Amino acid sequence: MNTTTKIYIAGHRGMVGSAIWRALESKGYSNLVGKSSKELDLRSQESVSDFFATEQPEVVIDAAARVGGILANNDYPYQFLMENMQIQNNLIDSSLKADVQKFIFLGSSCIYPKLAPQPLKEEYLLTGPLEPTNEWYAVAKITGVKACEAIRRQFGKDYISLMPTNLYGPFDNFDLKTSHVLPAMVRKFHDAKLNGNTPVELWGSGTPMREFLYVEDLADAVVFALENRFQDNLYNVGTGVDLTIKELAELIQKTVGHSGKLKWDSSKPDGTPRKLMDVTKMTEAGWTAKVDLEEGIKRTYKWFLENQDTFKQVKL
Ligand SMILES: NC(=O)c1ccc[n+]([C@@H]2O[C@H](COP(=O)([O-])OP(=O)(O)OC[C@H]3O[C@@H](n4cnc5c(N)ncnc54)[C@H](OP(=O)(O)O)[C@@H]3O)[C@@H](O)[C@H]2O)c1
Repeated sequence: MNTTTKIYIAGHRGMVGSAIWRALESKGYSNLVGKSSKELDLRSQESVSDFFATEQPEVVIDAAARVGGILANNDYPYQFLMENMQIQNNLIDSSLKADVQKFIFLGSSCIYPKLAPQPLKEEYLLTGPLEPTNEWYAVAKITGVKACEAIRRQFGKDYISLMPTNLYGPFDNFDLKTSHVLPAMVRKFHDAKLNGNTPVELWGSGTPMREFLYVEDLADAVVFALENRFQDNLYNVGTGVDLTIKELAELIQKTVGHSGKLKWDSSKPDGTPRKLMDVTKMTEAGWTAKVDLEEGIKRTYKWFLENQDTFKQVKL
């Protein structure tokens, strides 16, 4: 690897892919390739194969996926399963055929069994049933992890899988119908503040515990993984620290400057009581997260205020 190595970032316009692009650019990598889904539909095997023949990337980072919350997963199970498998299969298989030596596959913590012990260790993969609400997406991601593992074992190439915890930061999705919990809270507190500090209602009891990683920290981990050869195939990426949803809400409320009431609608589901990644393997490999949650939320809210006109339009 050097700064002129040709690196293809699939999904470079997404929250994760764009953060990886910025991180590589800031470290002087000058031969980056990216295509929007309009320019290159990664579901098409033929198009992906042609693209690899023309571009001949040396390193591939797969940050492209059909992503979404519980509602989207529930309404579009076939797309979440099939499109994600198509995208990653085309990228992984074309990379193998084009003799790409380094491939980084990004999944998520939903690959682990619903009732696995906490914190989640990599070795818990395939030890129990998945969370039913997003099993379509999780099954697709598990096949991606296994494809990279098989290539590593059979062909000795450096194909690895990084499993990030919940991410947040610039270019997140702040649409209340489809967003994850942290950006949804930013949006709700911000809107309530503008409406004269009206009360903010949040789902559940506020007691579940969750972990959040600033997306630029994930990008830093990806660059670290690119620049180092790891011993193994699968690594969790997180902070190793969690907090209650209530604590998260209070932190966001303070950052946004909302002074109204906070109401919990306990008739709404809480979800799993705790979800925390065990990050020992990544720590031992030499990488740890740098941006703490308070600082990350400050940066995210600043970005939110500066970019309200250009928010991502969710396609589903
Ligand atoms: N967000 C999180 O909290 C989180 C947490 C853990 C893991 N991850 C993982 O990180 C990865 C990226 O997530 P993200 O949050 O960055 O998602 P995102 O913002 O929705 O970006 C997804 C990207 O995938 C591209 N894409 C989707 N379908 C495509 C297709 N058919 N052909 C070509 N490109 C396609 C999109 O391209 P266009 O913009 O050009 O349409 C977009 O740039 C996923 O694998 C996800 O599992 C995310």
